[in-house]
Amino acid sequence: MPALFITFEGPDGSGKSTQARLLAERFRREGHPVLETVEPGGTPIGQQIRRILLDPANQELRAVPELLLMFAARAQNVEQSILPALAEGKIVVSDRFTDSSIAYQGAARGLGWDTVLQVDRIACQGLVPDLTLCIDIDTETGLSRARSRNRDSGSHEARIDQQAVEFHHKVRDAYHELARSEPGRVRLIDGSGSEEEIAAKVWDVVRIELESRHN
Ligand SMILES: Nc1ncnc2c1ncn2[C@@H]1O[C@H](COP(=O)(O)OP(=O)(O)O)[C@@H](O)[C@H]1O
Ligand SMILES: [Mg+2]
Repeated sequence: MPALFITFEGPDGSGKSTQARLLAERFRREGHPVLETVEPGGTPIGQQIRRILLDPANQELRAVPELLLMFAARAQNVEQSILPALAEGKIVVSDRFTDSSIAYQGAARGLGWDTVLQVDRIACQGLVPDLTLCIDIDTETGLSRARSRNRDSGSHEARIDQQAVEFHHKVRDAYHELARSEPGRVRLIDGSGSEEEIAAKVWDVVRIELESRHN
């Protein structure tokens, strides 16, 4: 099994964290070493940056500093954790990566894709996911799942969650555009079924990708 960098993308509440965990468990059951990581976060420094980004009290945070904080956490994660794991031959499963910045800061906040990709070049050292599983869900379903999760867990994943519905529509449209522009890497997965149904679809895509790498 070669080192592989897999990312989960999609709107808040689409089921990324759930599916990232299930995929990592599946790889482990099959005997593959896995690094699971989450953005923003991933490292102790990234966790500190994550608290700033998700804190609903930080309403005055502007779009450019938000982008740079996201990439500050990502740069630390790439250097300290993702690249070393890949060098050891591990499979890395990341809950969000640069495509999230394209969708949220580039499209929904209006900074533009090019700005995001310029920062990516500095922060990510050329690292691009091998496979990106983008879970597609209608905006209202995603938001209601995310809100009930936040209520149940007292989670602070709330600052961006409080944006207007229009913002979340732009996020979803950007993911669709990413899938159209990079069909080999970015795969849309219908997120409307049960957790198990979605996990089965994810595994189908991953299995085919692994087989194609062996040939
Ligand atoms: N397929 C599903 N159907 C219904 N609820 C789901 C499904 N997948 C996840 N959930 C629930 O929806 C909420 C959001 O899922 P989560 O994995 O945290 O999404 P994300 O990481 O994309 O924001 C959680 O409470 C989770 O338990
Ligand atoms: Mg999540």
